[in-house]
Amino acid sequence: MTISRTDFPPGFVFGVATSSYQIEGATHEDGRGPSIWDTFCREPGRISDGSSGDVACDHYHRWPEDLDLIRSLGTDAYRFSIAWPRIQPSGKGPANEKGLDFYERLVDGMLERGLAPYATLYHWDLPQALQDEGGWANRDVASRFAEYARLVAERLGDRVRSYATLNEPWCSSILSYQIGEHAPGLRDRKLALAAAHHLLLGHGEATRVLRSLTKTAEVGIVLNLNPAYPASNDAADVAAARRSDGTFNRWFLDPIFKGAYPQDIVEAYGDDMPSVESGDFDVISSAIDFLGVNYYSRSVDSANGQVRPSESSYTHMNWEVYPRGLTDLLVRVQRDYAPKAMFVTENGAAYEDELEGGRVHDTERVKYFQEHLEAVRDAVRFGANVRGYFAWSLMDNFEWAFGYSRRFGLVYTDYGNQSRVLKNSALWYQALLTGRSKGD
Ligand code: NOJ
Repeated sequence: MTISRTDFPPGFVFGVATSSYQIEGATHEDGRGPSIWDTFCREPGRISDGSSGDVACDHYHRWPEDLDLIRSLGTDAYRFSIAWPRIQPSGKGPANEKGLDFYERLVDGMLERGLAPYATLYHWDLPQALQDEGGWANRDVASRFAEYARLVAERLGDRVRSYATLNEPWCSSILSYQIGEHAPGLRDRKLALAAAHHLLLGHGEATRVLRSLTKTAEVGIVLNLNPAYPASNDAADVAAARRSDGTFNRWFLDPIFKGAYPQDIVEAYGDDMPSVESGDFDVISSAIDFLGVNYYSRSVDSANGQVRPSESSYTHMNWEVYPRGLTDLLVRVQRDYAPKAMFVTENGAAYEDELEGGRVHDTERVKYFQEHLEAVRDAVRFGANVRGYFAWSLMDNFEWAFGYSRRFGLVYTDYGNQSRVLKNSALWYQALLTGRSKGD
């Protein structure tokens, strides 16, 4: 093993991450209302294996064992998300107490096991009733989100160590309203940009609410960031990379940290620009305690579109493995935006795992984690203020439009009987975190 806890600063947090719709199942229990993903999964052709999150990992019933499992890995923290439709089945009105009870049990269960709760309020499961009113393309949804944040914070308060408002707003706007791959599956850039604006606004409003209701909890947001590299030094390729960085990264980073959209991209979007009301950017750029960075890969851009470096290796998602990109990204975000703190809130890889005699020999995933942790270590050495790292994911789960056909877990989920089997990567992570040997 070439990396250990001592390569990271004291207090550096190691964890694993999941999200509600991807693991919980129990979509009809205890008063949960339908979400846009329940609807989307029922539309033919949307999910590659025709599945849904109806059962998923059955975590809603198995959470005590799952928390024990996390504890056994030796992690300090657990990043999970709260399902808005469990708290407000129709997206508005008083809290569904049973929904809050579930997350209260879960959070208390973490605390009992010495795991710090890192909660995400919105990991894509919008109440369907709000989609019926236009979803995030409707400005009112921003305030609805802040109201939901209030209900959660009133119950869980400072028992939660860290609140992230949104997970990957690029996905819940562009991928969902323009590219059409995620719920609600629309293809309209103007709507997508309106959705992105209202997500950012909702983030700012919720940040203010969370601050007013907590004393010690940290408040922030999680972005998926993809460092963009030009395919060559040609001016046209350099411009393409800058454009891809602008639409993907700066479109979200700039409003949050600088209170404005990036001018080059504003010009490129022209008439599709969302309408911005006065005061919006003040709300959006409300001070946050941390930026969560989800990193999986990079893009290599040319004037003719994205390039796929042939010498690289690729995961089962067809994403290039490029650990160096994580170092570059963290150092660049530190330099350009100086967030108070950063966490790598997701990093991981899907591979075609096979369960053989009770073991999963996921050598490529071990290598992926190892190299990316080294990349984080390097970024810290170069001055990036990174305070923690969360592996995606605790266990194989519902991978959105890919259903159950992509496995990201450290732990193998046997969907036939819901048993969990520690893959070699889990044993490797456990050895790293506990200092004990891998047991294999
Ligand atoms: C990012 C998302 O937050 C998560 O839900 C997803 O499963 C992983 N990336 C892998 O695609």
